Amino acid sequence: MKVLGLETSCDETGIAIYDTDKGLLTHKIYTQIAQHAEYGGVVPELASRDHVRKTLPLIDEVLAEAKLNKADLDAVAYTSGPGLVGALMAGATIGRSMAYSLGIPALGVHHMEGHLLAPMLEEKQPKMPFIALLVSGGHTQLVRVDSIGQYKLLGQSLDDAAGEAFDKAAKMIGLPYPGGPYIAKLAQTGNPDAGIKFPRPMTDRPGLDFSFSGLKTAFLTAVHDALDRDAFNDQFQADIALAFEQAIVDTLVIKCRRALEQEGLTQLIIAGGVSANKRLQSQLETQLAKIGAGVFYARPEFCTDNGAMIAYAGAQRLLAGQHSPLNLSIRARWPL
Ligand code: KG4
Ligand code: ZN
Repeated sequence: MKVLGLETSCDETGIAIYDTDKGLLTHKIYTQIAQHAEYGGVVPELASRDHVRKTLPLIDEVLAEAKLNKADLDAVAYTSGPGLVGALMAGATIGRSMAYSLGIPALGVHHMEGHLLAPMLEEKQPKMPFIALLVSGGHTQLVRVDSIGQYKLLGQSLDDAAGEAFDKAAKMIGLPYPGGPYIAKLAQTGNPDAGIKFPRPMTDRPGLDFSFSGLKTAFLTAVHDALDRDAFNDQFQADIALAFEQAIVDTLVIKCRRALEQEGLTQLIIAGGVSANKRLQSQLETQLAKIGAGVFYARPEFCTDNGAMIAYAGAQRLLAGQHSPLNLSIRARWPL
């Protein structure tokens, strides 16, 4: 069965076709980042307009690349939440209208379920049950995954998401949006012995929840301190980027290890935009190898928002005999 996947929850229009026999046939991502950059964050109205403009032409491109016609599709999966309402409406309306006109099922997919299943598109795949760390611009969650649709929330951020912390810190030192990759790049030339110290929030007490807003405040204080000392130069920016990235990575590593030990599991998947972070990937691999656990993640373009993960998640739902009614509402907020 061939499933068309549409992702339009934020600032990326992602379109893909997943074949339940042959795997991923093709995918395309159009990113609006340049349009939002001058505003320092995503402008919802601009995002919706652009999804309306780009989705149908991209569907045509993806069909042509896969050498398929619309009539070859067996279902259309679209992101039905969580995300920006207008942006979600664009994908949902196009997806459902296509399904309606073709007489095939439409499937509303949870954006975070898409992220969570993205590592299943790779050759090195985990077997359920496993622990998933979902780290994006809007979420930081630890979830126990027993099977498709059986997700138990073990812990989550009580305030900012890890990606949000990266983005806000980046903004404070004048880096473009989204800041995570820019902080990571700067950190490569940072000196670990520069003496900038950040907390590892909530790691000194039991539990699997996170809090990143204090880290953001500590970052701002360190920036002000450097400005006061007239020490805010290129090397300082690299050093603070490294110290900040390392604080987030350490915090995530500690909680992932704790979740695996608590649940008695040996496989961790990381998903969502922040899972593209190389320092996070390699330090999880090293630290978790010590307890005999393995780490799984998607290729970089499938860590951030994409249509392939929505096509894949929709295909799994279809195989399980599910589909969504045509009057299904989109949801801006939606627990997994
Ligand atoms: O999953 P995603 O594309 O969109 C949401 O659903 O939020 O995640 C975007 C987030 C942004 O906060 C971005 O700064 C962060 O992922 N991100 C990274 C990296 N690449 C993307 N954070 C740290 N290191 C990276 N390499
Ligand atoms: Zn996302």
